[in-house]
Amino acid sequence: MNPETLLRILPATVRSRVEPYFEALEVMTEVHNPRVMASLGPSSVRGLVFQRGKQGQPTRIPATHSAYFDWTYPSDQPEMLELYRRAKEGQWNGETYLDWGTHVDPLNPEVPVIPDYFINFETLEEYGIKLDARERARFRADMLSWMLSQFLHGEQGALFAAAQVTEAVQFFDGKLYGATQVVDEARHVEVFHRYLDTKLEKVYQINDNLFVIIDALMSDSRWDMKFLGMQIMVEGLALGAFGTLYKLTKEPLLKELLRNVIQDEARHVHYGVIALREHITQELSDKERREREDWAFEVAILMRNRFRAYEIYEEWFEGRLSRKQWQHVVDTAPGLVEFRHVMFERLVPNLREIGLLSDRIQAHYDRVGLLKYMKGRAAHEVTGDEMLAQLDSEIGRHAA
Ligand SMILES: [Fe+2]
Ligand SMILES: [Fe+2]
Repeated sequence: MNPETLLRILPATVRSRVEPYFEALEVMTEVHNPRVMASLGPSSVRGLVFQRGKQGQPTRIPATHSAYFDWTYPSDQPEMLELYRRAKEGQWNGETYLDWGTHVDPLNPEVPVIPDYFINFETLEEYGIKLDARERARFRADMLSWMLSQFLHGEQGALFAAAQVTEAVQFFDGKLYGATQVVDEARHVEVFHRYLDTKLEKVYQINDNLFVIIDALMSDSRWDMKFLGMQIMVEGLALGAFGTLYKLTKEPLLKELLRNVIQDEARHVHYGVIALREHITQELSDKERREREDWAFEVAILMRNRFRAYEIYEEWFEGRLSRKQWQHVVDTAPGLVEFRHVMFERLVPNLREIGLLSDRIQAHYDRVGLLKYMKGRAAHEVTGDEMLAQLDSEIGRHAA
């Protein structure tokens, strides 16, 4: 019997328990490259089936990369040295730089934390769920807490990944730069956690799909896979997400927080692009490059299709909506559609730039509707300032 048919005949309460297992299976059957399956499969089981990130206790992920020492201290990568210089000058103190005295009321309709149209409540009504104005405001506040919580968990992953790649990378200038990124990520953990804890007063657990990605790249011993996973995929998508939220929110403290984080993240993705560009296009064999290409595609799909706020679903609608219906609600939510659009607009050109968009894989991106972003500007062509100026002009256009 095919899984869809089996799911339809199960009672709703059993179905919502079983569906995550089918999603885990789907992850593994969508992957056609056996080496990619070997890398993502065990992480999918740990994340989607055992929900290791949600057990209420610390998770230990063994890491087996080797630290690369160079006792000659070469000046070997001028672009990374320039990023190191900019990063030192761009440091800011999360404790004093932001106005933590700002009063934040996530339910105040005068200062919406995310706009009314973020979720299309009519879609929920079609499924028989009607929320009054107060519930809608609470729902939007929860959506924001959920998104920021996922940013926070991603930042914890970025903090450890930045430390690992600083050890493992073979450019000495990259190591100096990497140290600044470790500090940047610590600051991001600090400010996102403080905002969630003291302003929204609600922190969500890590989404299972995000756990899968973090688990896979932390446990991979190859430095370039860590780079690809964290600096290009997770950070590239986060940068798009931060930009969208920066544009959408009217809450001044969050906006200022994001403005500063975006400046840092623009450097991080830029670093990822320059570290990988040469390595992938000149040093890897065809077979190794194909594996990275397939891995990146699968992770992109994981991010696109599966970052679906199931934690919100379980809290608000489990037993009243099926997971499929919820998928439809989030897939058509205008705010989330915009998130996905901006995220991939940032990510796809970076994949092109580092040599992971061959004609062979372009056909797959085309099939899932992502090839339209192919011609955009990659991270090394856009600074944080330019990115913010563009976002500010778009906010101006929305307001006009
Ligand atoms: Fe970060
Ligand atoms: Fe980062």
